[in-house]
Amino acid sequence: MFPDSMTAIEIASPGAADQLRSADRPVPVPTHDQILIRLDYAGVNRPDVFQRAGAYDPPPGASDLPGLECSGEIVAMGAGVTRWQKGEKVCALLPGGGYAEYAVCHADHALRIPKGLSMAEAAALPETAFTVWSNVVQRGRLTGGERFLVHGGTSGIGMMAIQTARALGARVFATAGSPEKCKAIEALGATAINYREQDFVKILREAGGADLILDMVGGSYIPRNIKALAQDGRLVMIAFLEGPKVELNFAQIMANRLTVTGSTLRPQSDVAKAEIADQLRKQLWPMIAAGSVGVTIDSEFALADAAEAHRRMETSEHIGKIVLKVRA
Ligand SMILES: NC(=O)c1ccc[n+]([C@@H]2O[C@H](COP(=O)([O-])OP(=O)(O)OC[C@H]3O[C@@H](n4cnc5c(N)ncnc54)[C@H](OP(=O)(O)O)[C@@H]3O)[C@@H](O)[C@H]2O)c1
Repeated sequence: MFPDSMTAIEIASPGAADQLRSADRPVPVPTHDQILIRLDYAGVNRPDVFQRAGAYDPPPGASDLPGLECSGEIVAMGAGVTRWQKGEKVCALLPGGGYAEYAVCHADHALRIPKGLSMAEAAALPETAFTVWSNVVQRGRLTGGERFLVHGGTSGIGMMAIQTARALGARVFATAGSPEKCKAIEALGATAINYREQDFVKILREAGGADLILDMVGGSYIPRNIKALAQDGRLVMIAFLEGPKVELNFAQIMANRLTVTGSTLRPQSDVAKAEIADQLRKQLWPMIAAGSVGVTIDSEFALADAAEAHRRMETSEHIGKIVLKVRA
């Protein structure tokens, strides 16, 4: 049994972290294909910060509450759900609504808790796993033996990308902005590049060029990425922390037969997300169970302290994932 109302963290109005406030909300009712999850933990992601600031609206039909991933127990489901039973523990990709005691998602966007992970670690997994798999493996077509560069190497996304690429047999390079962050990258078996002191273009060119680059920085990095790529290299853009507009010499793309692409996860169809989930179940979950891919938790905050969690993320001092503990 579960109550009619719940505690959630809502965005009072677009702005700074203090706009996150506790509120009473109705417990969401699962539709035909959805499950209702009682949360143990919610993951915090940079897109939550952008949503709170008014720069990333939820897609039509999604909850206005922030929160793109969680772990917890299934407590109810729609009539069309056959995959799950009540009482099963899952982690799930959410279209929004994760900063709350209960959340709904499409039944096919939930996955079992991978063997060996805590509920806190499992909550920190879906957003990065879906994003990295779809952009590095599906779109970026990374294969064993290739050279892979990821920017923002100690972000939640970056650490998942490093480990997934290593598990696929790639040689991995990652950029970060401090010696401490570089140490964390090296501990995952990748070559760290401190971008404040070193030139990633030079390092990659000396290594033979990157076959794939996953970039969340954009701006001045875009023409430099193009220079760092090997022939037939691919550049996948997933964010533009430094801005989306640049002047670019397209002749280099032609001469080196490069592919420039990108994607955002949240607005994709339920079917597309279910297809990614299927691949995660079959390919990434065994890598996690084998211990070759893991989750690094930077810090844990109570749900009521979500504003503190956002402030921590905005310092960019974190290494790995920030989570909110929802249930004691
Ligand atoms: N396209 C998609 O589907 C998708 C899905 C999820 C997330 N994303 C994006 O992927 C990125 C990583 O997400 P996350 O949740 O893993 O974020 P995160 O943990 O907050 O990491 C972002 C990191 O980027 C680095 N960075 C470089 N330039 C920056 C700048 N100008 N401003 C702020 N940080 C900068 C920082 O590390 P240094 O100190 O080393 O610079 C920072 O730690 C975000 O931009 C997010 O919006 C995209």
